[in-house]
Amino acid sequence: MKLCVALDLPTFEDNIALAKELKAYDIWLKVGFRSYIRDGKKILEELKAINPKFDIFLDLKLYDIPNTMADAAEEISKLGVSMFNVHASSGTVAMQTVMERLKDIKNAPIVLAVTALTSFDDDNFKAIYHEDINKKALQFAKDAYVTGINGVVCSAHESRMIKENTDNAFLTLTPGIRPFGEDAGDQKRVADITMAKKELVDFIVVGRPIYKSKNPKEIVQRILSNLSL
Ligand code: C5P
Repeated sequence: MKLCVALDLPTFEDNIALAKELKAYDIWLKVGFRSYIRDGKKILEELKAINPKFDIFLDLKLYDIPNTMADAAEEISKLGVSMFNVHASSGTVAMQTVMERLKDIKNAPIVLAVTALTSFDDDNFKAIYHEDINKKALQFAKDAYVTGINGVVCSAHESRMIKENTDNAFLTLTPGIRPFGEDAGDQKRVADITMAKKELVDFIVVGRPIYKSKNPKEIVQRILSNLSL
């Protein structure tokens, strides 16, 4: 299992300072809306300059018509990131079109599909999709799997069920991780490391428990030691 640290701090300088602090660790870094919208390619280049071995997950959750998504995917593949994501609810044609566009690109990034956002509880989810969250998340995952997408973003609660219904090698990445039971904030379907391990999660995403802590390095160290137990 890999640790992916969410760089969700308010400024470019804060994110860079955190990456510098963590530069010795074998971790992935997640660049999301806030920093990519503000800082663009500069943040990616700067992170690679800090440690060329950092793998970057560009969390832009594409959702648009198939051709526009494929165009965006092709541009993302030129940025040197290791992974990006799309929404599974954009549909199988869109996901297929993205994968088709990337198939001849050398070293194309891993593509994940978002099933249900971890900030949804059952009622929030039903209000939009009129279905039970677990059932629909599994359906989204199965849809993504048949399109050739490499894995899904899901809650740790669904990881094992998704693998059992697709393939063990179908990747799961789970936000909403509170490694040692920290405050959930706006996340509803949270899990700790023990649960993530039991659920065979491939990547845990951790944001606030790391960057809001007084000693991010210590937390990262503790998480990594725990992952290797
Ligand atoms: O601070 P916290 O650990 O809750 O951060 C979780 C990160 O994962 C945030 O950057 C959030 O945007 C992202 N994310 C999520 N739920 C998803 C997909 C991404 O929380 N389904």
